Amino acid sequence: MRVPKRVKIVEVGPRDGLQNEAMSVPADVKIELINRLSATGLTAIEVTSFVSPKWVPQMADNAQVMRGITRRPGVSYPVLVPGMQGFEAAVAAGAEEIAVFGAASEAFSQRNINCSIAESLERFAPVIVAAGQRNIKVRGYVSCVLGCPYQGDVAPEAVVQVAQRLLEMGCYEISLGDTIGVGTPYKVQELIKKVVQFVSLERLAVHFHDTYGQALANILASLESGVAVVDSSVAGLGGCPYAKGAAGNVASEDLLYMLNGMGIVTGVDLTGLTAAGRYISGYLGRPSGSKVAVALGEKYAVEAKTCD
Ligand code: HMG
Ligand code: MG
Repeated sequence: MRVPKRVKIVEVGPRDGLQNEAMSVPADVKIELINRLSATGLTAIEVTSFVSPKWVPQMADNAQVMRGITRRPGVSYPVLVPGMQGFEAAVAAGAEEIAVFGAASEAFSQRNINCSIAESLERFAPVIVAAGQRNIKVRGYVSCVLGCPYQGDVAPEAVVQVAQRLLEMGCYEISLGDTIGVGTPYKVQELIKKVVQFVSLERLAVHFHDTYGQALANILASLESGVAVVDSSVAGLGGCPYAKGAAGNVASEDLLYMLNGMGIVTGVDLTGLTAAGRYISGYLGRPSGSKVAVALGEKYAVEAKTCD
């Protein structure tokens, strides 16, 4: 076992979570959530996406959110961009880190960004060059690494190809996305074994949606494979508008509880994170999608009652 001693959590709730909310969330609520997350010790918070508002209306307030947040030193605030139009808008709004998002499935690429995998890579190329000229870091996502909502199985070779290409093009990190949460631990380890032949472990991140309740198990499998960067979403918010039925990412609170219990350092404060999750769940008017947040809430409620 080569479980890392330290793990970086990339919080994606404000983007991956809120992009999927039926209810419109005002920019000032998003800004408050991001500011609260910024105070927890997280070093990366994905803030929004610069995509077409016709495709994802929930992210139409991208520039307002970017301008409204209080940026803390030591925290990066990446945003998603699918091409040059999004890149220019992101730069104008002050983005210092971006993420391009490709897929290992042709069918998903078409539904999500309206082009083939090859075309998507052609669109990312000038974005990554322009970002390099401005010292803007670029992260690369590969979606559907363990299955696709439209075509079913996805060959690991397809994942390897896109991941390798994104790395060669200049992405500093590749996040492997189980967009619909169908993966299981041994499949995850098999995939990582193949990918690391072309993308070194230090450049890999994992991104698990929890549709089938496998996310934490898959993260543990990834840690055992040596991966040290994990994406998660506060209160388990989210899904993908182009993967119907997909649940949110693994809840950040649940991930942090597991890492704390394993003695893995993250620098993130569970109390602050849980409070940020309570804030957004309260706004959305539903219980948190984090089991840890619910359990801690009940524990405190019992303790408060006992003290009465
Ligand atoms: P398209 O329709 O093929 O593009 O969309 P287009 O160039 O023909 O543009 C259509 C219209 O959109 C035009 O406006 C453009 O100006 C506008 P019109 O002339 O009709 O008035 N437009 C834009 N407006 C604002 N910002 C932009 C932008 N680009 C074009 N950046 C496009 C292609 C990629 C734009 C579209 O398909 C799109 O926006 N897709 C986004 C889908 C998305 O955001 N999906 C969710 C994120 S991915 C995800 O969640 C997975 C991940 O979490 C990992 C995982 O879980 O696996 C990352
Ligand atoms: Mg996602």
